[in-house]
Amino acid sequence: WRSPNFYKKHGKRSPFIPRSSTLRKTSAEIVSEARQSLRVQSTQRPFTPRDGPRQLFGKSSVHADCNNRPPSTFSLHAQNFDAPDSRPGSGTRLSPLNHNPKFPVPCDAEDTFKAFPKPPADPLEVKRGLAGARARLLRVGSLTTLPPVVGHTDGKSGKNIVASLDEWQKLGSSEGLVDRLCDLCDCLHGTLSEADMLGRRCKKRSGILRTLFHLIDLNSAQLNLYIAKLCLALCVHGNNLLNICKLIFQISRSENNDIFFQTNSIVDSLLDVLSHEDVSTSGEALLYCVGTLKFLSGNSAILRLLLDKNCIGVAQKLLQRLHTVEETHFTVAGHILVQLTATLRNLADHPDSRPLFVSFSVLPELCLVLRHHHKDQDICTNISRIYRCLTHTSICKLSSYSECKSPIVLPQDLVVRLLFTLGNFTAKSDEARQQLFQCEGCLDTLFLVYGTYQRRDTSQHTPLQKDASSPRKPAASPMSMQQDDDVLVKLVRVLANMCIHSTVGPAVASNTTCIELLMETIELRSVQESEELLVNVAATINNLSFYQEESSAVRHNELTIAKLLLKLVLSSSMDAMLEATRVYGNLSQSKDVRDFIMQNKVHQFVVMLLDSKSTEMCFSACGVLTNLAQDPPNRVSLALEGAATNLVDSLRDFGPDDWQLAGQICQALWNLIGGGSEKLLDTKESSSLLQILTAYIDEKEALKWIENENTRDFHRASWELEFKPVAQKLMKVLQPVDLAAWHTGT
Ligand SMILES: *[C@@H]1O[C@H](CO)[C@@H](O)[C@H](O)[C@H]1NC(C)=O
Ligand SMILES: *[C@@H]1O[C@H](CO)[C@@H](O)[C@H](O)[C@H]1NC(C)=O
Ligand SMILES: *[C@@H]1O[C@H](CO)[C@@H](O)[C@H](O)[C@H]1NC(C)=O
Ligand SMILES: *[C@@H]1O[C@H](CO)[C@@H](O)[C@H](O)[C@H]1NC(C)=O
Ligand SMILES: *[C@@H]1O[C@H](CO)[C@@H](O)[C@H](O)[C@H]1NC(C)=O
Repeated sequence: WRSPNFYKKHGKRSPFIPRSSTLRKTSAEIVSEARQSLRVQSTQRPFTPRDGPRQLFGKSSVHADCNNRPPSTFSLHAQNFDAPDSRPGSGTRLSPLNHNPKFPVPCDAEDTFKAFPKPPADPLEVKRGLAGARARLLRVGSLTTLPPVVGHTDGKSGKNIVASLDEWQKLGSSEGLVDRLCDLCDCLHGTLSEADMLGRRCKKRSGILRTLFHLIDLNSAQLNLYIAKLCLALCVHGNNLLNICKLIFQISRSENNDIFFQTNSIVDSLLDVLSHEDVSTSGEALLYCVGTLKFLSGNSAILRLLLDKNCIGVAQKLLQRLHTVEETHFTVAGHILVQLTATLRNLADHPDSRPLFVSFSVLPELCLVLRHHHKDQDICTNISRIYRCLTHTSICKLSSYSECKSPIVLPQDLVVRLLFTLGNFTAKSDEARQQLFQCEGCLDTLFLVYGTYQRRDTSQHTPLQKDASSPRKPAASPMSMQQDDDVLVKLVRVLANMCIHSTVGPAVASNTTCIELLMETIELRSVQESEELLVNVAATINNLSFYQEESSAVRHNELTIAKLLLKLVLSSSMDAMLEATRVYGNLSQSKDVRDFIMQNKVHQFVVMLLDSKSTEMCFSACGVLTNLAQDPPNRVSLALEGAATNLVDSLRDFGPDDWQLAGQICQALWNLIGGGSEKLLDTKESSSLLQILTAYIDEKEALKWIENENTRDFHRASWELEFKPVAQKLMKVLQPVDLAAWHTGT
């Protein structure tokens, strides 16, 4: 309900002028009301809650329920790692390099992140490099005065020629130790890299790894990231890869550790794992890597870093690989996708990311994800949030993507889903309505999709017949037409929602293509088969009729629209009848439309609708009757159909519940009797109307049934402003002349 002030402002209209209404929420009012409330909110971005504690899955996540989901918390110790395989490094197999112009980079993968320097091409140089590396390793050892990290091992955990942890810890405060060990890891990394001994090429690899794994038990987040980086550079695989990824993930769960990720190039290593690891063999490791990126992308400084390091490009490649996983890996792919879409959602927040989303064609990939994982609520939610961020760039560009050359070739369920998302967000945000409208090609694309789906299964692209008064049944198979209708229902909703915007609305209302498409829907579809669609189309036309500009295409086509809507009025669907009657209520302001209604005896139905038990229906019918009764010749016809009797009955039945409707009924009656100039009511009708009005005009009597305080105000306001003035006028002309004279004292 609204405050009485609202009515004061809007209620002062002459009852002579046929109007829809001011109290009932007509579409027009809802439009302006929606606009009011939107104006307040339009500066605010939709708020997307970030997860409180950093978790793989949110509390409400569907993944959170399944028993075998990967955990977010676990403890990791050296003992969890497998003894590193002591396969000889590939250093002994360097000869094939000559035949290969491209030196195989670590992990047999392309080095996209420049984490590793280019190895020398000459095998001799390689050898020299190896020698240099060894020398440097020793130097490193002596520089730090620590026993060399690399050496013979006795194969037992804990103790070897390398100093035990206990001994190391004696070397100084643990702070200083950690720093020195970090340096050491870094040096070792650099040295191995220089000597091209990363990957699996180093003979001492397993010894190095063993030592590194032990150091994990020192439990320093900072050191563990250095260790993890080196382990990844040494291409650990299987269980060790998983554990390293879990280790990194665990560190990233605390925001306090974010700083270490900023200062250490571990992000490169993570992206490298994402680029090269196989979903089927290392799915879980990938999951924890992406989970880490999800957390990190919540930090705006690291977000920027991720963008600079081509995270979007890597994500896009990973998406492609995830599309092709076998059935057995579908679940883990789903888990990964939840993380990945959440990461992309965070990235999408950054304005600089938008062109990247476009240039890497991420959105078509996400379309495919939606297709494969449409049952996964988490993924759908995350993707719809990405769309929400990007829609103005994305949807409009949809037609220009090479993967989806035109939205028409997109799978139908994706089109439905995209339109649904668009419908959702244009329903809520005025800014979104405008953005969507303004982006290039958007309307054209929508119209293209509209026309295509509309005509798809009908025989040979039936051209629109502008003056089709006889609706034709399309020759379509019921199933495919239902699916096409699904697209159209969503699409019409997008159009209707866009039109709520004060500048978009008039532009669309004056676009002939749009109105013709809407009219064509009514022409091509039947109420039995496409009830929802037709109801939506009629409601959209009604909304568009709100814009009464000169250029309004609704106005230019009012007679055609009235003719087309006939089948809705005459249908057996109450919803369709109601919407169509509402449109008639507006279009019947035009003399042509009124003549059409009378000539086709539609007024008989309208009079019958007064009898319906629905106040909404009665209200719409009253609107049409009010307009029809403007023309003196129509009054007699309406009276002959029993309009007056039905109006009086409706007033008696509905009045006390709905003073707005009561007011509308009085207006219709007022027009029907020509403001008192026509004697169309018989004595019986006249006196029963007078009796009702006399009862209702008594404020106490009229409002005594309303118990609730709040609604009482509402009812009082509408009684005062909507009903009373016109009721008084009616009473004046209804009272017997002598009585009226007696009243006024003449
Ligand atoms: C017509 O406008 C109203 C108010 O803006 C809106 O709620 C309604 O959904 C629109 N109609 C359709 C068919 O979308
Ligand atoms: C993505 O989905 C997950 C799981 O439901 C949820 O926890 C997370 O908040 C979502 N992320 C974003 C950015 O919407
Ligand atoms: C659309 O809105 C409905 C209702 O608000 C909501 O349940 C649904 O999840 C939303 N869907 C998308 C894709 O945004
Ligand atoms: C309707 O809008 C579309 C998309 O903006 C435009 O291409 C077309 O020319 C317009 N048609 C008319 C008749 O205004
Ligand atoms: C109906 O017509 C009136 C008068 O031209 C207009 O103000 C109103 O907005 C129109 N549409 C609706 C949906 O009420």
